[in-house]
This record gives sequence, structure tokens and C-alpha cells, in this order.
Amino acid sequence: MTTARSMVAGNWKMNGLKESHEQLDALADMLTTGSEADCDVLLCPPYTIIASFAATSPTRILIGGQDCHTNVSGAHTGDVSAEMLADSGASHVIVGHSERRADHGESSELVAQKASAALAAGLVAIICVGETEAERDAGNTLDVVLSQVAASIPADAAADRIIIAYEPVWAIGTGRTPTTGDVAEVHAAIRGALVDRYQEAGSSIAILYGGSVKPANASELMGVENVNGALVGGASLKAADFNGIIDAYRTT
Ligand code: PGA
Repeated sequence: MTTARSMVAGNWKMNGLKESHEQLDALADMLTTGSEADCDVLLCPPYTIIASFAATSPTRILIGGQDCHTNVSGAHTGDVSAEMLADSGASHVIVGHSERRADHGESSELVAQKASAALAAGLVAIICVGETEAERDAGNTLDVVLSQVAASIPADAAADRIIIAYEPVWAIGTGRTPTTGDVAEVHAAIRGALVDRYQEAGSSIAILYGGSVKPANASELMGVENVNGALVGGASLKAADFNGIIDAYRTT
């Protein structure tokens, strides 16, 4: 039995300008006027607007980054440290997203170092894992995902400072999702690995599902055992769609 607090997190990727504040404001209104949702709500906009989002976001909407460097500061042109994210008002950071693993060649070992930097800065690290389509077709999904989980969580990470996001690479931005049975199988395997590593505390680590989550499929996916929320890309850009996913955590 999981005791994890659920979260619906939005990953805006390389989208968002100053004018996108209207989506933050609209979401804040929807959360106020809609019935109370029993989950945490997090938005991860690009670096350029994190500080202004964090400054105006109601406490109901947490703000996070999408990546961080392993170091606190130094000669790393173009990079941003976890300490800078925390200083900008972020409470969370995504590390190891498949687009970072693919586009920037990030290994699980590097992801663990980034997660460690995030924890040192006082952030919660959302550690992403997931298989490619070729890995799934070859029957290697659980091996791939479990080895990513084992290697991407830093040795010193406390259970209450990490969240895992399972995102099958082939489901991201494609409109395709695994069956609920496949999601249940992978989430159960991740839960097993977390309980092995952390014993009882492993039951309280949230495991998010990500990859083409929309208002139309959110309830079904969020209803799967060991799914404690969603990491949402495209459908998090518009407040109405994101709110439609948060609906999965409203009881009325
Ligand atoms: P998507 O992206 O919801 O657009 O599929 C999810 C993600 O990459 O986190």
C-alpha cells in the first residue's frame, strides 16, 4: 500500500514567455474556484520565468526547474545550478528527463549527481526514468527502468526528498500511452525497488506517470495502483487542460 502524497506536475520544456503569466493566473483561479484537489500542483517553466512565476504564484502552485548542473557555481557557461533555482523560488527540479538523456547524453550516473546537487540545495528532485520503444519491443522494459532507478538515485538521498517519474520515451508527445496493465507492471516494479532500498519509507515516495497524459485519460491512468500523479508536458501549457488533469484528484 502506498502512502505517497500525489502530485500533478507540469513540464513546460522550452515554452513560455512573460505573457505566459496569464496561464499561471488562470490556473490559480481554477484551483480556487474548483473544488479542492487532493494533490500537490507543480509547474516547471523555463529558467527565464521561474523567478517571476515563483514571486507571484499562490502557495497552492509550487514552482520548479527542469534541470540543474551538478556544481553549485563555476565556469559552466549557460548552465544553471540547483542553488540558483532555489534562490529563484523553486522548490523542485526535474532531473534525467529523457530529452536531457537523449539530447545531452546524460547518463544515470550524471543524473544522480544532479539529484544530489538538488538535494544539497534544499530542492526535491523529480528523477525521470523510462524505456525507448526499441527497449520495450525487445522485452527489456523492466531491466532498463530498474537499472535507471538504481543508478539515478544518489546514495545519500532521503526518501522524503525524491519523487520518481516513469515516462516511457515512446509515449512522450506522441499521443500514445501504455495500457493500464503495462503502467501497473512498471510502477509495481519501481515500488518494489524503492521498498527494497528504503524499506517502509519506500512506500511513501511518489511515482508519477508521464507521457501523453491528457484530461481524457488522466482518471484512468491516475487510478492505476502505485501511480501517485502525473508529469505532464504538452497538456500543462494551457491552464484549462492542466486543470482537467488535476480533476483526477478531485472527489466532487
Ligand atoms: P507529454 O510530455 O505530456 O507532452 O507527452 C511529458 C514529458 O515529457 O514530461
